[in-house]
Amino acid sequence: MLSVATHWVPRSSLRLARAGPFARRVKSPKELALQAPNPIRRFDVLFDHAEPSPLDDAAYAPYGNLGFPPPPAGRPWIYTNFVQSLDGITTLLGKHSSGGEISQSREDRWLMDLLRAHADGILMGMNTLREEQRQRGPDSRGIVFQVADPALRELRRKLGKGRERNIFVTSATNLDLSQCKVFDGDVVDAAILTSPAGAERLRAQGGHPQVAIIAAGDKETFDLPRAISNLREELGVQYLLCEGGPTLYGSLARADLVDEKFLTISPVEVGQIVPPEQERLPSEQGIRVLLRPTVFGGPGFTRDQMTHWTWMSCRKAGDHQFNRYRRKRG
Ligand SMILES: NC(=O)c1ccc[n+]([C@@H]2O[C@H](COP(=O)([O-])OP(=O)(O)OC[C@H]3O[C@@H](n4cnc5c(N)ncnc54)[C@H](OP(=O)(O)O)[C@@H]3O)[C@@H](O)[C@H]2O)c1
Repeated sequence: MLSVATHWVPRSSLRLARAGPFARRVKSPKELALQAPNPIRRFDVLFDHAEPSPLDDAAYAPYGNLGFPPPPAGRPWIYTNFVQSLDGITTLLGKHSSGGEISQSREDRWLMDLLRAHADGILMGMNTLREEQRQRGPDSRGIVFQVADPALRELRRKLGKGRERNIFVTSATNLDLSQCKVFDGDVVDAAILTSPAGAERLRAQGGHPQVAIIAAGDKETFDLPRAISNLREELGVQYLLCEGGPTLYGSLARADLVDEKFLTISPVEVGQIVPPEQERLPSEQGIRVLLRPTVFGGPGFTRDQMTHWTWMSCRKAGDHQFNRYRRKRG
């Protein structure tokens, strides 16, 4: 039987309550949790067969254990993090297309930070950035993907991780670096993986020497496995977290480059076909049956190609399920 999930409060809040001006009346953990700006519940660990955490640190308390195996030779260890609905959908599309609309969970957002804290780089397809930018309005310069929780930023520091890095895959046919804040280089390091022709187009823009451009392939053809290896060789990336989207995930999966999947199952059901009553974006007009993607975009596998996975861990927080799967190879 599962224990009842309790609210988790950062130790620092408890310390502050004891030492601050209201020290005479120490608030109970429940009161503090209700008062805290973003209380998250402690995850119930149903099982966990993964490696031990690299550090014994209070920042792991809500989740418990989180460790990784050593990276393989010649490329980073690649772990992905997605949230899907009960029926396997990752985005509603339209005006509410972000993964957060499916997730609707503070614990899921916190886990995203925990996973980011262990990564040398976050890898994303260009549309994931475009969608975040579009949702913020025509004047937005988009967002920077980074660890928001101060305790997890501190954990990252203790893990010896350097500056956070956002890495995007793009053909760079229609990308103006100056329109996206993430390429300014003031908050995180940024890198782009693209074809040789795409790299030429980006370098011709000038003005962004701080963005590492990694070209792999031939002319307009992009070689994803080569680019990923170059991330290790050129930027020293040993642990790479892919946060989407489905198109990029499909490319990685077809190249058998996904070592682990962190997959949150959100207790919502949305259906795959966009219903007629949902407002469509201009880019979605004219498509008779508009399908919402699963985690795996693009061509999949045949019966003989399908990949097999070991279920490494399972947690719950409220009605959300947090799974970790590791690729079975050989
Ligand atoms: N539920 C979740 O956990 C989750 C996570 C992430 C994203 N999402 C949602 O998913 C949606 C975006 O997904 P998406 O599948 O449309 O986009 P995506 O995978 O983020 O980006 C696709 C774009 O990335 C580039 N790209 C990806 N793979 C490539 C390859 N092998 N070779 C060359 N370029 C490649 C291309 O960029 P260019 O067009 O620039 O060439 C392509 O158009 C958004 O709504 C987002 O909110 C959900």
